[in-house]
Amino acid sequence: MTRLADFPVRKAAGTRLTMLTCYDAVFAALLQETAIDAVLVGDSAAMVMHGQPSTLTADIGMIEAHVRAVRAGAPKLPIVADMPFLSTRTSTPAAVEAAGRLMAAGADGIKIEGLLGHEQLIPHLVQSGIPVMGHLGLTPQSVHVFGGYRVQGRDAAAADAIRQQSLQLQQLGCFGIVLECVPAGLGTEIARELQIPVIGIGAGSLVDGQILVLQDMLGLGTGRVPRFVRRYMDGSADVTTAVTHYIKDVHAGDFPGPNEQYADSANTGDAGSN
Ligand code: KIV
Ligand code: NA
Repeated sequence: MTRLADFPVRKAAGTRLTMLTCYDAVFAALLQETAIDAVLVGDSAAMVMHGQPSTLTADIGMIEAHVRAVRAGAPKLPIVADMPFLSTRTSTPAAVEAAGRLMAAGADGIKIEGLLGHEQLIPHLVQSGIPVMGHLGLTPQSVHVFGGYRVQGRDAAAADAIRQQSLQLQQLGCFGIVLECVPAGLGTEIARELQIPVIGIGAGSLVDGQILVLQDMLGLGTGRVPRFVRRYMDGSADVTTAVTHYIKDVHAGDFPGPNEQYADSANTGDAGSN
């Protein structure tokens, strides 16, 4: 497991970083047993865990509760937590208080979408002891400005803006940036220009690491997934098959079986597993 402070070191060493989102204690405990470098308690929780149509309904209380759950399930797992929609936009004191809540809940660092308007806030947070990750390209909190979930940085001017902003985020003290849904060539150029790692999601293979939404790569989603997702499991089919099997067993009187119930003469009141 890699500390967030080691992210630039890992890039210098040339080893690709891996991240996944995580929102709950069960998956956190499982992920802690793998070699994953860090997890993101993303504001995608609003969509993945709460069924909302976008990330705009995530608020600090929602992210804080998920951070607490992930930390409870995985005491040692490095956690980055998303600053939700507008939480960085009203004032510096409000943003500091919000970030502080996520850190107190167990995060090791926070992620902020976009650069503009955050030029003072990012160094202030870093100087206050809060590691900050940037996020450029398709920043989903701006979906209504973009007019949909679209690939960003396709024309030269837009690509240049993203490149400039990524350099600026590095100068402001970010330990890494997420680069979402940009042409692979642009991802490659930015990763080459920066000393801090570029963690891509739909940004090609020549960036410094990858992140995916856990439920997307486990096939646990219900809706359509973007083309940059690779499904490593058919989770939805496995779950519905298991539940269908359970229903069949109950209807048949096959569940619970003899070893799945209590005898009258039990000498212990323990309801444990055996
Ligand atoms: O909230 C999220 O899931 C994210 C990523 C996928 C980068 O911000
Ligand atoms: Na996010």
